[in-house]
Parts: sequence; structure tokens; C-alpha cells
Amino acid sequence: MTAYITTPIFYVNAEPHLGHAYSTIVADTYARFKRLCGEDVRFQTGTDEHGDKIVQAAESAGESPQEYVDRISRMFSDAWPHLDIEPDNFIRTTDADHKENVQRILQQVYDQGDIYFSEYEGLYCKGCERFLTEKELQDGKCPDHLTEPDRISEQNYFFRMSKYQEWLVDHINANPDFITPERYKNEMLSFLSDPLEDLCISRPTSRLTWGIPLPFDDRFVTYVWFDALINYLTGLGYPDDEKFSTYWPVAEHVIAKDILKPHAIFWPTMLKAMGLEPYQKLHVHGYWNIGDTKMSKSLGNVVRPRAMVDEYGVDAVRYFLLRDMSFGLDSGYNSEAVVARQNSDLANDLGNLFSRSLTMVGKFEDGKVPPCGTMGKLDLALQESCADMLATYRDEMEHFRFHRALQAVWKVVSKANKYIVENAPWELAKDEANQEQLHTVFYTLLETLRILQVVVSPIMPATARKMAAGLGVDHSDTLEIAGQWGGLKPGTAIQKPEQLFPRLEKKKDAPRPAKTKDRQKPKGPEQQLEGIITFEDFGNVELKVAEITGAEVIKKSDRLLKLTVKAPEVRTIVAGIAEHYSPEELIGRQVIIVANLKPATLMGVQSEGMVLAAKDGKRLVLASLSDTVAPGSRVA
Ligand code: MSP
Repeated sequence: MTAYITTPIFYVNAEPHLGHAYSTIVADTYARFKRLCGEDVRFQTGTDEHGDKIVQAAESAGESPQEYVDRISRMFSDAWPHLDIEPDNFIRTTDADHKENVQRILQQVYDQGDIYFSEYEGLYCKGCERFLTEKELQDGKCPDHLTEPDRISEQNYFFRMSKYQEWLVDHINANPDFITPERYKNEMLSFLSDPLEDLCISRPTSRLTWGIPLPFDDRFVTYVWFDALINYLTGLGYPDDEKFSTYWPVAEHVIAKDILKPHAIFWPTMLKAMGLEPYQKLHVHGYWNIGDTKMSKSLGNVVRPRAMVDEYGVDAVRYFLLRDMSFGLDSGYNSEAVVARQNSDLANDLGNLFSRSLTMVGKFEDGKVPPCGTMGKLDLALQESCADMLATYRDEMEHFRFHRALQAVWKVVSKANKYIVENAPWELAKDEANQEQLHTVFYTLLETLRILQVVVSPIMPATARKMAAGLGVDHSDTLEIAGQWGGLKPGTAIQKPEQLFPRLEKKKDAPRPAKTKDRQKPKGPEQQLEGIITFEDFGNVELKVAEITGAEVIKKSDRLLKLTVKAPEVRTIVAGIAEHYSPEELIGRQVIIVANLKPATLMGVQSEGMVLAAKDGKRLVLASLSDTVAPGSRVA
């Protein structure tokens, strides 16, 4: 099996930021996952170096366009190794073979009559570097750049995109996975319900010279999108290289929603005109926002991935990005959320599990993998949850639902932590008669860690390497083989554990006190009606989405569970739901909490909020959302 995964090629008018890093980490993770599945994978990224924007950026940097693109492109290729991103190919649209390829394709499409010369008057957005239709404007402005487009009239070359509209609609309908998540497929189908215009594919050299000259008319250069999209073919040595025949049939592109139309409309129709099969899948993600605004260079609100790596470490960054964004939806970035993930999921849950397990094996098993005896109920349950997790993990990773794959993995992490408490190996070790059981507990635990190491490797390669070294295993096996229970050989030496993640000291957000001033105002007539509240009253209640990361029974109470939740700060909440939910089934769930409730102590545990649930006769059912959202999202 083969796989070909690409990122957008990024404009070199800005240094790499977290948004670029996200798409590239997604593609890298997917490439590593596919390799883990035993596939022959090619992963490509690169830079898009022609067009108006580049010329302007070079001018303001006081450099020639070529000097400028060389310098910024290097910033991208130099940044990726710091994020453990390992592309097989880094393509630049100023590469000679790419320029030749674009010209060859233009000539072919021109010769067959799918490119024609015509006069065009339209609304041109400099930011998008394309003509916009009236329908696309919002209040007369480009919705992405919030600027009014210029009315331009000029002669240009056009690609007969409209000719392929019907074919494209049929193709999208016949291939449900062609554009995912589904919302983006629907958006494109709705766009295609109106007649498609032909695509202007040239720019007169009187206006722009930094581009690839049209092979049939040197008064024009190629429109940047017609040039850029072809990178996906050039990188495979199209048309003659065998890489093209190997990888093109399995091409999958990762992009954000900003460039959906060029990828979902221009590109497949261009391919069709060239006589090629379209790509297999387009994976579209949302934006990383700061507050409510998209992170972007033009708005000056960017987070630099290198600075994040210096502060948190590469794996904490990769984990955070994949865990905190539901692929397809927008997500808000804030440093508290990164720290919360690092401290709870990584340092506390996985890091602790690894270090305490290996330390105990050092102490009670002479630092070696023990033989596994007869497995009891608890051991078999942990083994089974590893098998269940592997099936879920594979499916979620295949479908770009990385956050869900990680949720499934972390369920096993918490089960394994709980398994240690339930088995209390330090107690078992006190009696020689428990030897076999003690061996079995450690074997089960080490096997679980070995499997965890395998599944986290696409997301956190460095952590997986540290874990593998500690467990004395190499990780060259495929997921199929490595996922089978029993891979650890008894007698293998276990290393002293290396700390996987440091705990970061940062104050957690204190729960916000309720605003009380409005309550003291004299009540108006409608407020005196019993049970009626005002908007302001409701606004005083802070409802948030929280994810349950830990749950345990509170001793001496039949009713209460102690929950650890992320919202995104970590909190403890005591909930009276023990008769309705077991701790295990709660891990990973998203619930709605009242976040600004005055803390209260129940059975000696301080509770920082309340979980919402519906009472249906004797049943108590937790309130939830119809889709996963970023922990901490406000419920309004
Ligand atoms: N050069 C074109 C793409 C050509 S592909 C044939 C381009 N470049 S870009 O530099 O503007 O990159 C856009 C891409 O960067 C997005 O599609 C996404 O992959 C990534 N992101 C940029 N900002 C982002 C966020 N704030 N959030 C998530 N991804 C973001 O368009």
C-alpha cells in the first residue's frame, strides 16, 4: 500500500506561524501513522513563491524577489525539523523543474482548446490574488481580507473551468470522502449549484512580472494558483518519473478552509482537463484563532512555533495541537491550555504512569521484564482495553480525527494508572506467595506501556523513542505486529526511566466569582415574578464545556464521584452521579459545567464547579453536546 500526503505550499510573504505548523504537523503525523501501518509513504510540503504579494514583501524588505524568496523559504524548511516534521520532499515553485512543468501543462491545455483569450472586467482582490464574484463579497468587501476589491478591466487568458462543472458535481457526489469533513463538501456542492465561471489564469506583465511566463504569449505570466496547485504533480516528477505513477493515485491534500475553493474546484477541473485522475481526498481543517480572530501574519497576532517548542518542548506542542483541535472546526489558542495539557495529560497521566511503572519494575523485579503468569480479571480487562483502543485509534487516525484517537489512547493511560492503584504492587510485594501475581501485574503494565509507545509515536516521536528505550524495545514493527499482546520478552532489561515531561509551573485560572452587583438592584415588576430571570441574571452563570480526564469514587460515599476536568484549566468537581455512572465510562467525555460557582467542600474534597445533568424519574443523565468542541468553550 502507498500513501501520498501534502500540505499547502506556504506563501513566503511571512515567517512560519502556528497555523502553518498545524497543517504540517497533521500531515507529518499522518505520514508517520501510515508508515507505522506498513505503507510506502511520500510526504511533501514546500513554498509558493510567485505573485503580487511576494513582490510587495520583497520590496518592503529591500531585497530582490529572488533573494527574498530564498531567505523566507529557508525559514520554512529550517523550522520543520525543530517540530520533528520530516518531509520527503520540500518543493519551491521557483524550482526550474516546476516552472517547466507548469509551462508544459499550460501548452497542453491551450493546444486542446481549454484556454482562450478574452476581455474581462471584474472585482479583483489583491489579498486573494483573484477576481471575486459579487456573491462572494460581504458588505462590498472581500470576506477574508476585509478590503474592497478593485474594479479591473483587462485582456487575459481563461481556463474553461465551466466545461467541467457537471463532471465535478458528479464526482463529488459519487465519492463521499473526496472532501471531508462533510460540511466542506456541502459548502462546495452549494457553491456549485450556481453556474461556474471560467478561471482567469494569466496576469499581464505590465502589472506583474514575478511569475511563470505563459508559453504561448510572453506578455503574460501565469496566475499564481494555476502555478501553485501544479506543485503536487511536480513533486512526483510528473509526467515521466515512476514516483508519479506510484503516488498520484493515492494523493491526499491537507489544507485549511481558507483555500478550499482553489483545491476543491480549480484543482480537480484542471486535472480533468489534463486528462488526469483527481486526487483521492481533500482534508480540510479550521483555523487556530486568538480570541475570536484567525491567527495570521496580516493581523499581527501570530504565535511562533519555534518559541513554543523552546518553552514547552516539541512533543507537548505536537500533542497540544492535535488534541485541542477537532479537525474541521476552529480552535482557540491560549498558553494556559497548553500548560494544562502538558501538566495533566502529559506529565501527570502518561509521564507518571511511565516513570512509576519503570521505577517499581526496577525495585520489585530487579529491573527486568518479568514472566507473565495466569492473568486475572483486572489484567485481562486492561489487555482488552488496549485491543479496543487499537481498533478505535486506527479508525480515528485514518479519518483525521486525531483528537478522538488521542482520547481513546488516554482512556488506556487512565485505566493503567487506575490498575496500579487497584493492584497495589507494593502491597503484593510484601508476601512471597504473591510472586506470580506481582509478575503478572508488571508484565501487563509494561505491555500496556509498550503498546502506548507504539500508538503515540506518530504524534510524539521523541517521547515514543524515550519510552521504547526505557522498555528495551525497538520500534520498527508495523502497528499490526506491534499491537499484538505479548511483544515484550521476559528477561529484557528495563532502563531507569527518563522524565518524559516536566511539570510547568503556571497559576491555573481561578474560577471567576459570580458578578453580584446586578442582583442587588431593586427588582422590576417582571423580575418579581417567581422563577423569571433576566438576561443579566443568566449572564452571571458561566457555563463551560469541560472534558473529564479523571474520575474516582469518593470513599464512604455511595453518591459522590471526584472528577478531574479540563475547561481548559484543570479543576476538581465533586458530582453526585456515582449511582448512575462508573468512573471508567466518564473518562474522555465532554460535559457542561457551571464554572463560576463558589467552591464548596464535600466529603473533604474541594469542588470547583458543578456538572449539569437531567433528572428523568430515577435516572440521571449528563448534559452533553452533539459534537466535540475545545474544552473551555462557553455555553451560551
Ligand atoms: N500559497 C497558498 C497555498 C497554495 S497550495 C497549492 C496559501 N498559502 S498560505 O501561506 O496563506 O497558507 C495557507 C495555509 O496555511 C492554510 O490553508 C493552512 O494550512 C495554514 N494556515 C494559515 N493560518 C492558519 C490558521 N490561523 N489556522 C490554521 N491553519 C492556518 O494559501
